Amino acid sequence: MDLSVLFNVTYGLYAVTTKEDDRAVGCIINTCSQVTSESKIFSICLNKNNYTHDAILKSKRFAISIISENTDPKVISELGFFSSREKDKFEQIAYKWKQDLPVITDNTCGAMLFEVVDTKEMDTHTVIFGKLVEAIKLSENPAMTYDYYHKVVKGKAPKNAPTYQEEVKKEDNNEVKYVCGICGYEYKGDINKEDDSFRCPICGVTKDNFKLA
Ligand SMILES: Cc1cc2nc3c(=O)[nH]c(=O)nc-3n(C[C@H](O)[C@H](O)[C@H](O)COP(=O)(O)O)c2cc1C
Repeated sequence: MDLSVLFNVTYGLYAVTTKEDDRAVGCIINTCSQVTSESKIFSICLNKNNYTHDAILKSKRFAISIISENTDPKVISELGFFSSREKDKFEQIAYKWKQDLPVITDNTCGAMLFEVVDTKEMDTHTVIFGKLVEAIKLSENPAMTYDYYHKVVKGKAPKNAPTYQEEVKKEDNNEVKYVCGICGYEYKGDINKEDDSFRCPICGVTKDNFKLA
């Protein structure tokens, strides 16, 4: 089986959010798609270990904010590589409340609000079906595709993403590479030559979080 074929399946990048008690919670997903047109049902797929998974099943409502190429990568790093279990991920992110759901406003293309209508458990993940109740245009920025995220932002998917794949190690390559232990970002060259103010461009951690690849 040639798993590289899976990289040709196209996706977008989204922040899925909900309200838990009085706070905003949410994470990054690439698995959002429209399922039916007349009643506008969408599906999202969430890892059962993600805090957002339980919060949405409890609130029965969620918002999808469509990430654009102009959205600060910090939105992806905060929401996609940290858990609301550990911290308030929204502290440094621009958002506003719409119908009591948090919507990301940092150059996002738009937002859609949903009510959960069904779920289907799939091994490690749950597919959640939502009925669209509101759609809000926020900008004309081009939507970020998963391909753009990989090729231009040079981002990776963490283990909880359904599309996660172990890195294929390339042999006979003399190039020195360091890999970020938090998000998997690859730094080409000797990271020790960077000064102490260096931060991972994806998740913002310091250079001591990088390991030789
Ligand atoms: C590019 C990218 C795509 C991702 N796609 C998904 C996804 O489709 N489903 C999912 O459950 N997690 C996905 N994740 C992982 C979650 O965003 C991540 O595990 C997050 O830390 C969960 O936060 P939480 O525990 O606060 O919910 C993705 C992350 C990134 C960076």
